[in-house]
Amino acid sequence: MPLSRILGEYMAKVVFEPSGKKIKVSTGTTLLEAAKESGVTIDAPCGGKGTCGKCKVHLKSGPLGDITASERKKLSPEELKAGVRLACMASIEGDCIIDVPKESMLGEQKILIDGTETVVTLDPYVRVYTVTLPKPHLHDNRCDWFRLEDEIATCSEYTSIDFDLSTLRQLPNLIRDNNYELSVTMYRNHVLDIAKAPVEKVYGAAVDIGTTTMVAYVMDLTTGDIVGIGSMMNPQIPYGDDLMARISYSFNQENLEKLSKLVIEGVNKIIAEGCMKAGIDPSVLGEITIVGNTAMHHIFLGLYPKYLSLAPYCPVVKQPLDIPAQKVGLVAHRLANCHMLPVMAGFVGSDHVGVILSCDIHNSPEMTLAIDVGTNGEIVLGNKDGMVCCSAAAGPALEGSTIKYGMRAADGAIERISIKRGSLKPTYKTIGNTKPLGICGSGIIDIAAEMLKAAVIDVTGSIRPELEDENDRVQEGTHGYEYVIEWARKTGLNKDIVITSNDMREIQLAKAAIYAGVSILMEKKGITAKDIDRVMIAGAFGNYIDIEKAMTIGLFPEVPMEKVMSVGNAAGTGARVSLISREKRDEEKVILDKLSYVELATHCTFQKHFVSAMNFPHKDLSLFPETMKHVYAPIPRNKK
Ligand code: FES
Repeated sequence: MPLSRILGEYMAKVVFEPSGKKIKVSTGTTLLEAAKESGVTIDAPCGGKGTCGKCKVHLKSGPLGDITASERKKLSPEELKAGVRLACMASIEGDCIIDVPKESMLGEQKILIDGTETVVTLDPYVRVYTVTLPKPHLHDNRCDWFRLEDEIATCSEYTSIDFDLSTLRQLPNLIRDNNYELSVTMYRNHVLDIAKAPVEKVYGAAVDIGTTTMVAYVMDLTTGDIVGIGSMMNPQIPYGDDLMARISYSFNQENLEKLSKLVIEGVNKIIAEGCMKAGIDPSVLGEITIVGNTAMHHIFLGLYPKYLSLAPYCPVVKQPLDIPAQKVGLVAHRLANCHMLPVMAGFVGSDHVGVILSCDIHNSPEMTLAIDVGTNGEIVLGNKDGMVCCSAAAGPALEGSTIKYGMRAADGAIERISIKRGSLKPTYKTIGNTKPLGICGSGIIDIAAEMLKAAVIDVTGSIRPELEDENDRVQEGTHGYEYVIEWARKTGLNKDIVITSNDMREIQLAKAAIYAGVSILMEKKGITAKDIDRVMIAGAFGNYIDIEKAMTIGLFPEVPMEKVMSVGNAAGTGARVSLISREKRDEEKVILDKLSYVELATHCTFQKHFVSAMNFPHKDLSLFPETMKHVYAPIPRNKK
């Protein structure tokens, strides 16, 4: 029986090694909770549900609660015997010392900053107007407000202007102390600042809040240039890697407030970092534009996200929002506006609207397919005459979460791999050129494509058992056959890094979900792959993967390679475009009008497309043994 049940709840001291961080918590607290409080960031992709098995720690001394059923499922008998526990399941029952291995720590991930450059006319909502006011006299005794308003009307489209009380109180002295020559910084027709002329610069920030990473671009609104960039991993990650984990954590109001506060603090931090690089103070930022998926959008604003996860997946709000930045909790000019780009549906957020905006799909005659692959693959297909979009539940496999040795794109992750035909010897490259610790998204695509091309797997994704006798890279593991990428002695884990049959299945499920989503959108538009003029792959995944290998495994429809391009952080570019162009900002509503959402979960042909996309395409049947060719051969059409 746990000690806490006998002695009642009391405080216990936990030491986390190798960092040496200590914390006192009540008995009954999980190791994961204690680690979060002490600032030790253990990777917890499933948000602490005991289903991912990635939060392994090692008990060095002290009492922990009984081993749970989830731990028995996720840990081998040898691991349990050696004191390995799942941090999210093991409760603290007294003073203890815990070792957190490198592979269970949340490593710093590569953050995608670059996006495609889009040509837009520089015309932001925050502008500075330099005016010379006529001096008042007995025949012109207009009030100061109207005097300034009339001058602004001569150089802008605003016929009336607005003040806050504090600026209004300073107005008479500002006018006269500066000899009637003023620079007036305005957001739309609202006066933000009045200063002695000339003021030449005004600034704003565009922020992309991703589930995993966040980027802030500080921009000079008089030139349209990026003058500073700040980035970090989303501080909500310890509460779950994927959206569903964060949404379910936020069902409780207190937890929602916690996650909301974390992300707002994070956004302030990256904006401050960008400002520091630009040599300016955040208080000069006149406007901040924000993109993010619908869950991030809602949690950022403190909007209850529960119904995003329940059919029919309704967001609280879809339309673009303009809210005083101060009210949101952002550090900027005290009167700055925070513009939230619109969301389309529960799982198609303003980040995807940002992609459409920056790639100009809504104005283009070209039939465009844009895909942002993540836990949910957000997909849009269309052109100026109309667009359809959907969210394909790809699951976290392509980000490494459900892959046995999957990991984030951090140091030690295998990001590139190729396999030599015949010997099946792999050649790989890790991020940071260190010993391998696991395999990240781009490596996962590579390995699937390479295993297919080297005939380690067949088109059904099965690892070919006969290879076990021919080559030591294929071995039988606890759950079926596996391919060894690296032997234990050469890894940073002291364990063989392998790809299992189960991993292959996860990759197939993910790629089939994306492909089925694309197929349904093509069906909706009444087109086939040959009618697609360009394919744009957005986001970090699209930036780092080898597109040819992604095509090899059938992640995207078969179009000529020259039509496929990676557009980097197009969501972030969308936020920037919205910040510097009024015309583009106004087009956000046009996008909503032209875009219709297709719910895949209830779509009648989804299952059919999904099942038929499960197999890997393969053209070179000569690689496979004669006896197995029937498995790989395409089914002849119209066979009588
Ligand atoms: S199993 Fe512990 S966080 Fe997933």
